[in-house]
This record gives sequence, structure tokens and C-alpha cells, in this order.
Amino acid sequence: MPGLDENADVWARQWDWSDEGEQWSAWWGGTDAMWFGAVLPRIHAFVPAARVLEIGPGYGRWTSRLRPLSGHLVLVDMTARCIEHCRERFGDSAGIEYHVNDGRSLAMVDDESIDFVFSMDSLVHVESDVLHRYLDQLARKLTPDGIAFLHHSNLGAYRTLTALARRVPPRLLRPLVRRGLAVDLFAWRAESVTAQGVANQCARAGLACVSQETISWEFGRFQIDALSVVTRPGSRWHRPTRLAANPGFGAEARRVAALYAAAGSTNPGRAG
Ligand SMILES: C[S@@+](CC[C@H](N)C(=O)[O-])C[C@H]1O[C@@H](n2cnc3c(N)ncnc32)[C@H](O)[C@@H]1O
Repeated sequence: MPGLDENADVWARQWDWSDEGEQWSAWWGGTDAMWFGAVLPRIHAFVPAARVLEIGPGYGRWTSRLRPLSGHLVLVDMTARCIEHCRERFGDSAGIEYHVNDGRSLAMVDDESIDFVFSMDSLVHVESDVLHRYLDQLARKLTPDGIAFLHHSNLGAYRTLTALARRVPPRLLRPLVRRGLAVDLFAWRAESVTAQGVANQCARAGLACVSQETISWEFGRFQIDALSVVTRPGSRWHRPTRLAANPGFGAEARRVAALYAAAGSTNPGRAG
């Protein structure tokens, strides 16, 4: 159950950020492969955008790709060292602003000011109270045609399997997870969050969830995560919710990594 205190401790004190989070892209064959293979295809309709908010940028793995697609980029992370690193990495300019928050508040963002909200690989670790709080605020922060792409947990959809996995000692559970036979408790997903719960909260917050894709992650076919696309009712993106179950996200990653992201596939024209 990753609470805000645990998140603060892990990301501020425990995590080794020396590779700027690149290790999290290794299963796709690198961050370029993951960006072009998994992320950009899902957000291409929303970018470039005039004013973009990224929640939980960490050391800027996605920020580096989002920045050229953003007129103005607002970064909000609860971990001061992450925001400090992003400031060093991307510099101070009129086109980018940096904020450390308390893990919940978007008070530093003006109402009706954000055209595109992006969060990838961060809100999977926040429980429903925090996620719902962010959704409540996004209803006010989005411009009338604004849209949000949010990667969050769906582990709550596997309560029984999660309880079973908890009963297995970690040294035995790990090989089962790797073989796709048990839900991945090591991925530290929020257990209180489901895609359906997020859709319900969107409705309560006055937002419309226009698509939800439940996805598997690194191992197996359990869809422990979800990608929700959220807008304001009446925006140009608004339509009835479309749902997709994607238990093959992890298999696609391994295919991309094996076939296309190996060193032999890099464009010789781009080499030194
Ligand atoms: C696993 S890292 C991912 C960073 C980046 N998104 C990436 O993919 O490389 C999680 C990041 O989310 C931030 N984070 C976690 N919970 C948060 C919250 N409630 N509000 C804002 N940031 C949060 C952490 O400080 C950390 O920078």
C-alpha cells in the first residue's frame, strides 16, 4: 500500500537516480523504443499542445520527449531532488516551470490553464484518495478543450490474487511473477485503485473518461495498470467511454525490444 510517506521516502532517499530512471525503459529496449512504441501512439492526437502539465516527472525521462511538444511545460513532483534535477537538466526559461508539491495539491496551477496533462509511471504508486484528489483538481485546471493522459494502477481489480500472492514468501513469489503466474507485487502498485473506480471518480469530479485501456506490465497478462484519457464534458474530445483490455502490453514490449531496439537496429545515419 504505497502511501505518500512511503513515496516520499523511496523517491527522496532510497532510490538510486543515477541513470535518470532509464532502467524503467529497459524492458522496451530503451526510452526511445518505449516512447515511440507505447507512449506517443496513445497521445499523438493531443500534442503539440500550448500548455502542458506533467505530474511526477522524476528525473525527466518523459519530460525530455514532451518538452519539444509543449509550448509551456509545468512540472509538478512531490520530491524536491527530482524537481531540482529537472531544473538542472532542462534549465530555467520562460517555457518551463518547476514545482514541488505535497503529493496532492495542484494549487500552483491556474484554473482553466492546461491543455494537456501527462503522467506516466508515477501515479501507479498512489492510492485512490490521492488520485481522486488530483482528478477533482484537474476538472478545474483543464481548459475547456483540455485533455489528460493518466497512467495509474488497476491492481484493485485483482484483490483475491493479490491476497494470495501476499501469502507467498518473496523469494518464491518472484519467480512466479517472472513467469506470469502471479500478480506483480514488486511493481508496488496501489491496491485501492481500479480503472472503474477512476472512471467513477471522473464522473463525480465533473470529468468525462473518454477511454480506458487496462494493460499488463512487465510480466504476465494481469492488467495491473490502466491508461485513462480524461476530458471535460462538452470538449472537442468528449464521447462515450471506450474500453480496451490489453493483456499483451508486456509481450509487445518484449517483441519491440527483441526485434527493433537492439543496437543493430539503430540508424547508422544517426551514429557519431
Ligand atoms: C517511478 S518515478 C517515475 C518518474 C517518471 N515519471 C519516469 O517515468 O521516469 C515516480 C515519480 O513520481 C513522483 N510521485 C510519486 N507520488 C507522487 C504524488 N502523489 N504527487 C506527485 N509526484 C509523485 C515521485 O516523486 C517520482 O518522481
